[in-house]
Amino acid sequence: MCGIVGYAGGNDKNIVDDSDRALVVALNGLTRLEYRGYDSAGIALCTRPSNILDDDSASKSYLQVRKKAGRLKNLIDEIETHPLLPAQTSIGHTRWATHGEPTDFNAHPHISNDLRVALIHNGIIENASKLRQALEERGVHFTSVTDTEVVVHLLREELRFVEDDDNLRKKTKYPLTHAMQRVVKQLNGTFTLLAVDASFSDVIVGAKHDSPLVVGLGDGENFFGSDVVAFIEYTSNAIEIQQDQIVTLTSNDVVITDFDGNLSTGKHFTVDWDVSAATKSGYKTFMEKEIREEPKAVADTLLGRFDETTGCIKLDKVPHDVNAFEERLRTINKVIIVACGTAAYAGLVARYAIEHWCRIPVEVELAHEFRYRDPIVNSETLVVSISQSGETMDTLMAQRYASEQGAQTISICNTKGASIVREADGVLYTRAGLEVSVASTKAFVSQITAAYLLGLYLASIRGNKYTDEVLEIVDDLCEVPDKIQELVDQFESISNLAHGLRDIKSVLFLGRNIGYPVALEGALKLKELAYIHAEGFAAGELKHGPIALIDANMPVFVILPSLSRPQLHAKVISNIQEIKARGAQVFTIADAQDIQAHEHATFTIDRPIVPSLLTPLLDIVPLQIFAYALATSKGLDVDKPRNLAKSVTVE
Ligand code: M6R
Repeated sequence: MCGIVGYAGGNDKNIVDDSDRALVVALNGLTRLEYRGYDSAGIALCTRPSNILDDDSASKSYLQVRKKAGRLKNLIDEIETHPLLPAQTSIGHTRWATHGEPTDFNAHPHISNDLRVALIHNGIIENASKLRQALEERGVHFTSVTDTEVVVHLLREELRFVEDDDNLRKKTKYPLTHAMQRVVKQLNGTFTLLAVDASFSDVIVGAKHDSPLVVGLGDGENFFGSDVVAFIEYTSNAIEIQQDQIVTLTSNDVVITDFDGNLSTGKHFTVDWDVSAATKSGYKTFMEKEIREEPKAVADTLLGRFDETTGCIKLDKVPHDVNAFEERLRTINKVIIVACGTAAYAGLVARYAIEHWCRIPVEVELAHEFRYRDPIVNSETLVVSISQSGETMDTLMAQRYASEQGAQTISICNTKGASIVREADGVLYTRAGLEVSVASTKAFVSQITAAYLLGLYLASIRGNKYTDEVLEIVDDLCEVPDKIQELVDQFESISNLAHGLRDIKSVLFLGRNIGYPVALEGALKLKELAYIHAEGFAAGELKHGPIALIDANMPVFVILPSLSRPQLHAKVISNIQEIKARGAQVFTIADAQDIQAHEHATFTIDRPIVPSLLTPLLDIVPLQIFAYALATSKGLDVDKPRNLAKSVTVE
């Protein structure tokens, strides 16, 4: 939610002063980060005096700001109309509006009244109204209605304070760093902040509290990003900024302190996504590319997980004392999965497998509901968080709450070094690669895969399954990528089906047992991409109410249980007959040899044969393609659906 990029360069002989690199890096970063928010975008460049062209330079501000409501394209057009001078540092922001409509004024960066300081922000300042009132009483003039603007004015005030104090001034090379330390202590809420000071055009100061921030280390240039995508094309050498740290970044230096100014460190890591991950690679949309990458996402998530010697599945991170960690996992009496949106549906799928394999109760809870209902969590609970971004604030807070209650925590996550990962006791990475499209696709199948691996890990260390049994299931999982491919190969025919239904107003999705969460996810995809009303129901629930909705105008997708579950299958076939009797068209996803499905449905998508527990990994694929094709046939932007953002870093 909100993309942030920062660039400090221009001191290196290779990066000449008159280049437009500061601008280019910021705009490229924003292009890649736009999936985090696309209501408005803005940029501030800090230019040293020698870059100011006319004689009157001494009286000019060296800060140049451009910002525009709407997509990034509007900002780029604005910069073409009003070009910018070469600069040493730049900060850029792409916004997902929280406080204040997406207008030019509310777009970031926000600027101090004397045009000396510019600031961008991701998060929410919860005490903004009180701070604003006090600032206004002190004569500060506001130009926006955002919560963020208070921070830039506070920063300007504190800068003045630091510069007026001889002792403080001597303590730091950059007064802005010291001013930032004083400001963050006045803020409640969540924030990543980046600020530049026109009087020190070579430095950017960043601060992080409950919102993501990473640093990229270049050669004679350094970068900030709300995630590594911001600088992925320039460096793979990165530092995770930890909670409550301030970073002073120049072209050749990165100084990290805590909020009190004590020197501190971040965690270095190598980015293993290459730049091609951030491009469409010839596809029209990221979403199509990402659906087509699903076989690989599952295969990569499975790769090298099984330790032939110990017979155990390997996690990516375990606490230092592995034995104590595993001992605790042996004694837990409940698993709670916390997640949001698609990740929560992956959790609902995983519940069936984990309970079946481990014989332990599994609850799945929407992360934003979890901690506010006084849940029963203690040292005998394992809380598993599932998140693609690893930055979803609701999920992070739920996991943090669970830790505070003494629970053991394990994160299933797709993003190295993300906040959720850092705070979890154990980690199992999904290896879906970078997912850019706002609608989750390959992340979903890789989350189910990883959650299954976690189930097998628990089953083996708790003695519910022998090594050969685990291995047998791993073998079945390893066959899934090829079977997903068979469904991806039906892209055309499923798209044709969707095009034929482009004028529908409402769709129902029904599933039973492990097909039920797939129905929920199928409905979510259609809602978020095609803006069509869609509902997912447990098929057995139909007769308890939803059947009243059914008529000839209500197409129904039915996910049929595998033929290996004959009782369930028969019941869902009866549901199909009930639906048809009320005039609705039925579309099914069913086992390839399911003759009854073919008999009853207007259109059937054949599911390659897999064990029943693995069917969700296949069944979701046609539903994703259907939602994608229906949305594109309506001319909608599937990669950036309205009102959404990829990474929801506010509560
Ligand atoms: O990054 P996360 O997996 O934590 O994100 C959770 C949800 O916000 C996300 O899955 C959302 O529901 C997607 N837009 C669904 O396509």
